[in-house]
Amino acid sequence: MDDLNRIARDAEEASRLRDEAQKAYDLVEEAQRALRYFEDAQEALRSAEEPQRALNSIEAATDYARSSIETAQTLAELEQLRVEYLGRSAELTEIKKSIRELPVELRPQIGGAANRASQEIETARKAREVELTAAEREERLGSEAVDVTLPGLPYPRGSLHPSLRVIDEVVDFFVGLGYRVAEGPEVETDYYNFTALNIPPGHPARGMQDTFFIDEGLVLRTHTSPVQIRTMLSQEPPVYVVCPGRTYRRDSDPTHTPMFNQIEGLAVDKGLNLGHLKGTLAAMARHVFGEDVRVRLRPSYFQFVEPGVELDVSCFVCGGSDPNCKVCRGAGWIEMLGAGMVDPAVLTEVGYDPEEYTGFAFGMGPDRMAMVKYGVPDLRLFFEGDLRFLQQF
Ligand code: FA5
Repeated sequence: MDDLNRIARDAEEASRLRDEAQKAYDLVEEAQRALRYFEDAQEALRSAEEPQRALNSIEAATDYARSSIETAQTLAELEQLRVEYLGRSAELTEIKKSIRELPVELRPQIGGAANRASQEIETARKAREVELTAAEREERLGSEAVDVTLPGLPYPRGSLHPSLRVIDEVVDFFVGLGYRVAEGPEVETDYYNFTALNIPPGHPARGMQDTFFIDEGLVLRTHTSPVQIRTMLSQEPPVYVVCPGRTYRRDSDPTHTPMFNQIEGLAVDKGLNLGHLKGTLAAMARHVFGEDVRVRLRPSYFQFVEPGVELDVSCFVCGGSDPNCKVCRGAGWIEMLGAGMVDPAVLTEVGYDPEEYTGFAFGMGPDRMAMVKYGVPDLRLFFEGDLRFLQQF
């Protein structure tokens, strides 16, 4: 049965092709006849002795031309015929050119016949052009038609990386406070990454950050703090910037990866103090972890701030009530970031007057924050690119 259906389909296709071939053949036949008659008319005019033969031939040629035009199946074929009959070197054009060499009494007759032939051919061509244009448009619409009832193609939906979610939340928060977003290069000079931050060559504080050295004087930045320096060198105070970016250290364990994100914050203005720092970071923590979280500052040490602090956030899961809590491990507090008042030596280095301006700075790890927020036990999962992990967010 299948074979029969196939044979029937092939037969249908064969008959369609045969019809098309027949039409093409007819077109060529008619066109050749038309051209032969135009040639004959031209020949008859050359001696000017057979005007009637010329007139008859023009008339016959016109008939064949018209009928070939009606047989044309495509706009391209039609254009080809226009060139053959009415083009600059067509027989009919030649006939018109030769009229002024004819005896005066023959001119109106032959001229009139040639003009009529042109008009008739052009009228037929235009009519066929309208038909073919409509047919081609119809066919195109048919083939391009969209079947709105077809089921859609399932397109996998992406999701934001958990770190990026936290970065967006933090940056949005600071932009809402009027901070500007600043960025800097990931390959940084020793000067911006260390020296300008009060960590001169040979200082033991350099050893605290397991640096990837690239070349003499060049490192993969170990933190986003160099963006503080770049920003202060490029503008006058007041400064309010937040600087997200990738940073690198020779680290790899469940809470450390060789590449990780940091978000730096810097505010320099007249009269800023530690209270402003604490208030700002408390509001940020509530924005990211929920309205109920509290913050506390613990003394800490960073070479470029004085005093230096670390900020802890109260455990947003148990609030300190569960000794077995997986997030805070019973401590009730989660370490969040390093911060402090910008060291006057750093302000002096960038040309700010520390008597007039004070500032606070902070640097947080949004990957660690995302780990805590989403309860992920191993930071390395974030960067392995396993879709099964990433699709959960
Ligand atoms: C700094 O990098 C200071 N520049 C922060 C700072 C800025 C202090 C401004 C004062 C003023 P620290 O080395 O603690 O600080 O890193 C900050 C945060 O980056 C950490 O709290 C942690 O969340 C994250 N972090 C550090 N190393 C890694 C790592 N290898 N993988 C993932 N996160 C890391």
